[in-house]
Amino acid sequence: MEMNAVQGVHTIGGDGETSYASNSRLQGKAIVRTKPMLENAIQDIYTKLLPERLVAVDLGCSSGPNTLLFVSHVLDVVGDLRRRLKLIKPPEVQFFLNDLPGNDFNNVFRSLKGFEKKMEEEKGDLLVPHYVAGSPGSFYGRLFPSLSVHFFHSSYCLHWLSQVPQGLEDKEGVPLNKGNIYITETSPPQVVEAYQKQFRRDFSTFLKSRYEELINEGRIILAFLGRKKEHPDNSDLRYLFELLAEALNSMASEGIIAKDKVDNFNVPCFGASMDEVKSVILSEGLFDLEEAHIFQSNWDPFDDSDDDLVLDYVVSGNNTVKCLRAVLEPLIANHFGDALQLDDLFSRYAKNIADHLLKEKTKYTVFVVALKKRA
Ligand SMILES: C[S@@+](CC[C@H](N)C(=O)[O-])C[C@H]1O[C@@H](n2cnc3c(N)ncnc32)[C@H](O)[C@@H]1O
Repeated sequence: MEMNAVQGVHTIGGDGETSYASNSRLQGKAIVRTKPMLENAIQDIYTKLLPERLVAVDLGCSSGPNTLLFVSHVLDVVGDLRRRLKLIKPPEVQFFLNDLPGNDFNNVFRSLKGFEKKMEEEKGDLLVPHYVAGSPGSFYGRLFPSLSVHFFHSSYCLHWLSQVPQGLEDKEGVPLNKGNIYITETSPPQVVEAYQKQFRRDFSTFLKSRYEELINEGRIILAFLGRKKEHPDNSDLRYLFELLAEALNSMASEGIIAKDKVDNFNVPCFGASMDEVKSVILSEGLFDLEEAHIFQSNWDPFDDSDDDLVLDYVVSGNNTVKCLRAVLEPLIANHFGDALQLDDLFSRYAKNIADHLLKEKTKYTVFVVALKKRA
């Protein structure tokens, strides 16, 4: 049942300068922001079911500080509940950390020892007993036995599709979205429809799989990139990918990479609208939508301001690209091969982003959704 994800969809492993572990501040902000929702969800499960063992899963955990931030948030919440409910026997938590097999699970498990030591120092006897296991595979399919999970969490993942949408070429195999790598203003309607169809299919497979795996009344908290505007060619992701396409096209026109390689490259990502998300949830009818929020996050992960000012657009361009490189490099390297000098590409991309930020401070649109399994 499990579908194969696109080759190269995973973050840069290890903890070097370009790794995801060193460049995931943007995504960390979403995890901090959704903590109150995580608290509500776990509290609800706990007070209703008082399970002796709680199974909590992070889908698309990647490798780095955010992976363990999820674990520590859950342990905080369960520890507080234990004190408030005056439970004598502490509950145990089983964590499963899921990602695609290309993820650097070794790095995650190597960092566990240090994490556990820190938790023991901080919490002493109050530390909730817990066990952490890895679970490689695509979340667009079944990963766990039926009725075995209490709580699923996934942050900054569901905008990734299970594959590049089919139907991005005409009958003769000529690319319909030439020169572009994502939906833009000039993309023909077939391209827009292909992306929308793929998102609907993937999100509905995701919901069906989680429905089977969750215990009754189990919860899901999802944070992922979406778009504010109704039409897909008007998403904030569009600008990001247009600026990357510009960098790739400039390298093609200088003969550094082949033009048809750019024409055949389409990113397997989609920024849905909240209506598109809700319509899939509604038509599946498997979950109650408990909460839905939209917030914005500056492209520059180090810019925490709410205003429309960019203090130094060159610095912000570089910061934005460092974060994107940690996520996109494996996908790009896999498609373009060794001919592409990645440093050259990403410095062109940083310049394009800086020029764009000079004109307009564009932000990511992040959706947060809380779901409860229907009985
Ligand atoms: C930007 S990272 C987010 C990581 C982490 N959740 C965080 O918030 O920092 C997105 C992750 O989703 C994973 N991913 C993408 N598609 C997936 C799939 N079909 N199944 C499992 N993981 C997937 C990628 O490998 C990547 O590690």
